[in-house]
Amino acid sequence: ARHVPDILSPEFAADPYPAYRVLRDSAPLLWHEATRSYLVSRYEDVERVFKDKDDRFTTDNYDWQLEPVHGRTILQLSGREHAVRRALVAPAFRGSDLREKFLPLIERNSRELIDAFRHTGSADLVADYATRLPVDVIADMLGLDKTDHTRFHRWYTSVIAFLGNLSGDPEVTAAGERTRVEFAEYMLPIIRRRRASPGDDLLSTLCAAEIDGVSMSDEDIKAFCSLLLAAGGETTDKAIAGIFANLLLHPEQLAAVREDRGLVAAAFAETLRYTPPVHMIMRQSATEVTLSGGTVPAGATVTCLIGAANRDGNRYRDPDRFDVLREDLTTTTAFSAAADHLAFALGRHFCVGALLARAEVETGVNQLLDAMPDVRLADGFDPVEKGVFTRGPQSLPVRFTPVAG
Ligand code: HEM
Repeated sequence: ARHVPDILSPEFAADPYPAYRVLRDSAPLLWHEATRSYLVSRYEDVERVFKDKDDRFTTDNYDWQLEPVHGRTILQLSGREHAVRRALVAPAFRGSDLREKFLPLIERNSRELIDAFRHTGSADLVADYATRLPVDVIADMLGLDKTDHTRFHRWYTSVIAFLGNLSGDPEVTAAGERTRVEFAEYMLPIIRRRRASPGDDLLSTLCAAEIDGVSMSDEDIKAFCSLLLAAGGETTDKAIAGIFANLLLHPEQLAAVREDRGLVAAAFAETLRYTPPVHMIMRQSATEVTLSGGTVPAGATVTCLIGAANRDGNRYRDPDRFDVLREDLTTTTAFSAAADHLAFALGRHFCVGALLARAEVETGVNQLLDAMPDVRLADGFDPVEKGVFTRGPQSLPVRFTPVAG
């Protein structure tokens, strides 16, 4: 048997893709003692777990992965309970609400960030842009004060770290639990004020919502906001950093995208396939299930390796190549993402913010290319990616001709 680097080893954190290949080829269903879960790595198997047409998998794992940091969110729920709550926010993230209300807000927030550095000739696209746009947008959507963005960023980072704390580091656990307390102290007074005087924002929508004639509790609304901040923050920030890194590291593709902005959508899909922000999503088996890699017993945890599935040679031609022109992407219809890759999962928990994320990333790419047509990586840049549960470039120093005026 070939050596499979452990998913918790430094070797894996530095570059998981060689290990993903070994897993797909020789151990497509592998018991992993430290996380007490089965690793699932092939596209067809991960797709099957996510789609889960026959209700063989639950999200009960989120009781220990999410409940301690968020409280009860839609990710823990199933059936009608899940569907009615998801439907409360879904309209804001697609169609006319997204186009007319939130796209202008994304464009404004993006422009503000770019204006802060376009005269300087250099920037770190991670620190100055990617880590800022998604939180600023969610804060504005919820009607929260954007000047609190440093706190929001610290909170969502610690929540995501808690979720990905596969080795059980006690400091990470403590930081996540502290965030739950701090976020509640921050949000509960705001929720009470918003109930008394509603505005035209998503938080007011949640406060006004009734489920079977009953409004949601302050605690449930707070949990919803906590999920939106974490689910839409770190993921989108890594997607923005990822698309820039991929394009800057492939200058001929950057040039193609700059010339034909119709390719921005393809670059977004290809980035999510090639370097997905979220690499691992867990599920619990309700019954015994047979996958192509073997049989999972009932009551087991499975870890779906999105980063492995997205580079499965049985699904993609030349899977380890970043190629915005590849033919196995669709990128034409709004939710084509569901057919292109597994970065947004699939099935009933398919990312409700997928189109919002796409709007943010596309706006970001277009505005940055407009503001700095000759943007390039600064000399000596080493594209360090970090993380096991979520991954993305840690910094992205660039140079460009400063814009006068
Ligand atoms: C669900 C990824 C952006 C809100 C998910 C899931 C994934 C994901 C993999 C499924 C989790 C599971 O099935 O266990 C991403 C990526 C994003 C992104 C890669 C950026 C490129 C956003 C944004 C928002 C958002 C911008 C909203 C502000 C949510 C919510 C869920 C979810 C609320 C739970 C849906 C449900 O349970 O029905 N996301 N997401 N996401 N995402 Fe995203």
